[in-house]
Amino acid sequence: MSQETTNRPAQPIYLDYQATTPTDPRVVDAMTPWFFERFGNPHSAEHKYGWDAAEAVDAAREAVAAEIGAKGREILFTSGATESNNLAIKGVGRWRREAEGRDRIVTVASEHKCVLESAARLEREGFEVVRLGIGRDGLIDPDALEAALDERTALVSIMAVNNEIGVIQPLAEISKRARAVGAWLHTDAAQAFGKIPLDVEALGIDLMSVSGHKIYGPKGVGALYIRRRRPKVQLEPLMDGGGQEKGLRAGTLPTPLCVGLGKAAEIARRERDAEAARLTALRDRLLARLEAEIDGLFLNGSRAQRIPGNLNVTIPGLEGQELLAALDGLSVSSGSACSSGAPGASHVLQALGLEAGKVAASVRLGLGRFTTEEEVEVAADRLVAAVNRLRARRGAA
Ligand SMILES: Cc1ncc(COP(=O)(O)O)c(C=O)c1O
Repeated sequence: MSQETTNRPAQPIYLDYQATTPTDPRVVDAMTPWFFERFGNPHSAEHKYGWDAAEAVDAAREAVAAEIGAKGREILFTSGATESNNLAIKGVGRWRREAEGRDRIVTVASEHKCVLESAARLEREGFEVVRLGIGRDGLIDPDALEAALDERTALVSIMAVNNEIGVIQPLAEISKRARAVGAWLHTDAAQAFGKIPLDVEALGIDLMSVSGHKIYGPKGVGALYIRRRRPKVQLEPLMDGGGQEKGLRAGTLPTPLCVGLGKAAEIARRERDAEAARLTALRDRLLARLEAEIDGLFLNGSRAQRIPGNLNVTIPGLEGQELLAALDGLSVSSGSACSSGAPGASHVLQALGLEAGKVAASVRLGLGRFTTEEEVEVAADRLVAAVNRLRARRGAA
């Protein structure tokens, strides 16, 4: 063993599963043959290398579709949820404005930045964009949504699960209202797919974004579900090229990544319910300890409408960065890792009504497939000890 390896400190406990997940070894195994032995271009229609790759890509499409009650031909591969969200929002917005004169987008203030920025781009192109607020529980009010909708609305884009506070939006209610005015419903399901049951028919979803690396698949791949019937969703592509993915997303598909996403979806489908029960128990145990042992700590977002693997708690009287710095041995996040570690208060916690300027540390604790009971106990010990230490120091100052 090299000097460097032996001196390296033990890996901290990873509790940041909403930022990303490790690729499941079963996924890595499924991907491996598609790098070398079976490297064909899935768009090569004239020989076996191409046919094999195309078959693997289509099987992966079916696996993604099966998890949400869709058809394989309704799944388009992308580079991740960022691209899926961009394509859904800009693609539908531009198509519907051109074809139908619909030039309004309705979304929510607590969406991921890639949704908010896509909507902002359309706003600069002359669209009207409505950004709904959320309640203290992190959820939108369907009546407020209804009031924001009209016959000019092209798209409603509301995330299934929030990446910071883990709350589950009422998609069926949202869809009913969107459909009443002929608006299509897009949902960013990067944090929901494979974690909670999602059925595009039951929920009335027209477009759905998925990310590989949030579900124990590889980074750099995602999917967009696009409804084909009732309604037939249409959209403008963002990229032009060789006509791949029915002309909606040009570029050679990365076979290994598509296979990896398919495998990750298949495992999620098989293990989702048992895993949800296990994670809910671990999460509840962690929260119970933190609430009992840290004075004034409170949970952000709805307790009930929440994915199993997420907690987001605020600890009054401490600075966020100060707390994170004291949490050696624990990899957690103060907000969202998806905004390049931008400093400043999280836009989601602000939308929730947490007062800016008031000293408080918020921590997101994300549990996942490889989190153990022991890790949860040790994490609670470390968090409690860090808070006690910092509070004692503040008290002494
Ligand atoms: C809710 C949500 N949407 C979109 C993204 C972006 O996904 P990707 O990294 O696949 O582009 C993330 C996280 O990064 C997310 O949590």
